[in-house]
Amino acid sequence: MANPSLLILAGDGIGPEVMNEVKRIIDWFGAKRDLAFDVSEDLVGGAAYDKHGVPLHDDTMAKAQSVDAVLLGAVGGPAYDNLDFSVKPERGLLRLRKEMDLFANLRPAQCFDALADFSSLKKDIVAGLDIMIVRELTSGVYFGEPRGIHMEDNMRVGINTQRYTEAEIERGARAAFELAMKRNKKLCSMEKANVMESGILWRDVVTEVHRDYPEVALSHMYADNGAMQLVRAPKQFDVIYTDNLFGDILSDCAAMLTGSLGMLPSASLGLPMANGRPKAMYEPVHGSAPDIAGQGKANPIACILSFAMALRYSFDQGAEADRLEAAIETVLADGARTADLMGPEGGVPLSTTQMGDAILTALDASL
Ligand code: NAI
Ligand code: MG
Repeated sequence: MANPSLLILAGDGIGPEVMNEVKRIIDWFGAKRDLAFDVSEDLVGGAAYDKHGVPLHDDTMAKAQSVDAVLLGAVGGPAYDNLDFSVKPERGLLRLRKEMDLFANLRPAQCFDALADFSSLKKDIVAGLDIMIVRELTSGVYFGEPRGIHMEDNMRVGINTQRYTEAEIERGARAAFELAMKRNKKLCSMEKANVMESGILWRDVVTEVHRDYPEVALSHMYADNGAMQLVRAPKQFDVIYTDNLFGDILSDCAAMLTGSLGMLPSASLGLPMANGRPKAMYEPVHGSAPDIAGQGKANPIACILSFAMALRYSFDQGAEADRLEAAIETVLADGARTADLMGPEGGVPLSTTQMGDAILTALDASL
């Protein structure tokens, strides 16, 4: 069987720096775990604009559609801030998400014990935390019509509309149940069925999809209570499925339970392809960090954890994803810190490459 294929779009700023470490990890899995990928690389964002005058070339878009998964670094930077909106680096990213129809945004909140002190919550509430928020990304109140600002009785009125079709709710729910099956078979769906009709439909459709996943324990929660529970006792959750607006807020809230931007991975999934794998793009939550770009200071862990998500959710390599996450846990427990993870006590931080070295050493030790 052919190797699974990966397209790497490193992008701008620290994107290529953190992606270099991911490439070494990918090579390690090929050499030591007999898990080889066909890796190709291309440009996105400002890097693509510099070469082609557009933030994503059509050929790159076609490649992204044909591979098993896309790994993206970050796009943007001050050099591109004054470009016309239509060719801004972010447009490259938006085009990928839109044309691949990536409707399920996965944002984990995972707490590494060694970093539990970074949390604003008490250590025992977050230590060992590992939850996943699945946010519907392509519909809901950010897209619904009618929308706009108009005059009514000499007063300005602002309108946005929460609109969900059952098909939109269903495909996201299937993605969430599939994830739950690969994790701990526990899913909590969040909406406001008490005050919103779209929430009533959401609850109905999720309940219907549940019939196809009887092994998963499904619960429903009002999203406002969900926000309270996330900061009160986050470990009660495993997978959470929610809409675009609630997911935007709840995923940012959950992410910060666990600390630094340099640690946060994400994935965006679409419909299953002919080979059964979902269309998928994996990327760190952070941007191109122009303030530290080119200095070898960036923390590569968010990008490496994004690759771990690819192993788990695109390639059914949950045990190897566990191995990689455990290696990261080990180096952090041993005190390895890039500059963004240094506490007030100070010390000499590791460079991006030194953090990569440490993780590779821990991977070797895991064999
Ligand atoms: P940012 O995430 O790039 O940086 C925010 C702060 O976090 C900076 O101080 C940065 O040094 C630090 N930081 C981020 N990632 C880090 C890492 N891996 N290791 C250590 N420190 C890290 O967000 P900002 O500054 O608002 O945006 C910078 C550029 O990135 C802008 O052009 C923005 O449009 C773009 N951006 C791109 C995103 C993407 O490609 N998905 C997401 C967010 C912003
Ligand atoms: Mg947000």
